[in-house]
Amino acid sequence: MTQASSSAPNKKRIAIIPGDGIGKEVIPASVQVLKSAAASGGREVAVTEFDWGADRYLRDGTTLPSDAVEMFHRDFDAILLGAMGDPRVPTNVHAADILLGLRFKLDLYVNARPCVLFDKRFTPLKDRTEKDIHFMVFRENTEGLYVGMGGNFKKGTADEVAVQEDLNTRKGVERIIRYAFEYAKARDLKRVCMSDKSNAMTFAHDLWQRVFKQVKAEYPEIESSHQYIDNLLMQMVRDPSQFDVIVTGNLFGDIASDLGAQLAGGLGLAPSGNIHPGQVSLFEPVHGSAPAIAGKNIANPMGAVLTAGMMFEYLGWKPEAQAIVAAVHAALREGKTPAELGGSMGTRELGDWLSSFVAKAGVR
Ligand code: NAD
Ligand code: IPM
Ligand code: MN
Repeated sequence: MTQASSSAPNKKRIAIIPGDGIGKEVIPASVQVLKSAAASGGREVAVTEFDWGADRYLRDGTTLPSDAVEMFHRDFDAILLGAMGDPRVPTNVHAADILLGLRFKLDLYVNARPCVLFDKRFTPLKDRTEKDIHFMVFRENTEGLYVGMGGNFKKGTADEVAVQEDLNTRKGVERIIRYAFEYAKARDLKRVCMSDKSNAMTFAHDLWQRVFKQVKAEYPEIESSHQYIDNLLMQMVRDPSQFDVIVTGNLFGDIASDLGAQLAGGLGLAPSGNIHPGQVSLFEPVHGSAPAIAGKNIANPMGAVLTAGMMFEYLGWKPEAQAIVAAVHAALREGKTPAELGGSMGTRELGDWLSSFVAKAGVR
């Protein structure tokens, strides 16, 4: 998952979009830790912050500026985003424009959401350990039910009709399935499971069936399987150890990755990458803006911190990425945990602790 970068190998240009709610708390903690890791590794990060989100939208109507996509391609190696969503914007239009807009317009077709249990104390599953919960969810990120094709007829009347299309292209389905197999192959992972609902979605998901059959034939060394999404979610709870790589569509991947996050300890611990291999890509924690706990310094920043680690790995800075992961491991081991994990560390205090841990342990 590495990128051929346009800038110098020891300097990366990172766009920061904290966004809304706890995004504004977890991203500063994440930036603090990533700066510490870069400095310890003798590298340089140039960060540029963008104030896009609900406040800005409510102030002047800005969502995603028209030159943003070109600017990211030209001036940045990666984007780190917090979360989008605010009760004052019930249409969620700013989130659709900014977050979904960047996924679509930067063509970030891989949404990589690892579900990895760091410490068995934190899974809600009885008798499960670190070796049981260690899999990747690849979510198709540019198509499906998210494309916004549809509309209303007779809106607001008793006869109203609402339609939302599930758009799937052969190219789109093929590239995410192939990515999942290539990822497994590169890491010597033995199992890829595709999930859809082709027993009911007989056009759109039949395409997934046919493409999966074709692509899996190219990877005979990998054990490929299929589970309908309803069964998949049940199986994730019943026996998560059966999965190495899961690949699925946009909406099902959204749902499966929140479940996977909780199996691995909590939504606040889960990182993700929105990736187009070789191009500027966007990294964000899996969680949202969590309005109920925003501004209280209690949100878990570990998902956002691990997201910075994923970003560094993508950019080819593996030692720095490992240093970040090691710091989170150490915090969990030493009981330096936030309320979500039963502890009392604040968001800022965890940012301080993790960044000084990285500075002390160094980057190897
Ligand atoms: P959410 O992820 O914000 O919160 C779900 C639950 O998890 C809440 O109980 C919340 O308190 C908790 N939680 C989430 N992150 C946490 C953290 N880091 N530490 C501790 N607890 C945490 O999902 P939601 O409540 O469905 O959505 C809230 C808003 O966020 C909505 O506007 C939604 O559209 C948006 N959202 C945005 C993104 C994104 O930007 N990527 C993702 C999901 C939801
Ligand atoms: C996520 C979020 C988004 C999604 C929302 C905010 C549109 O839930 O990134 O998981 O559904 O993709
Ligand atoms: Mn989600």
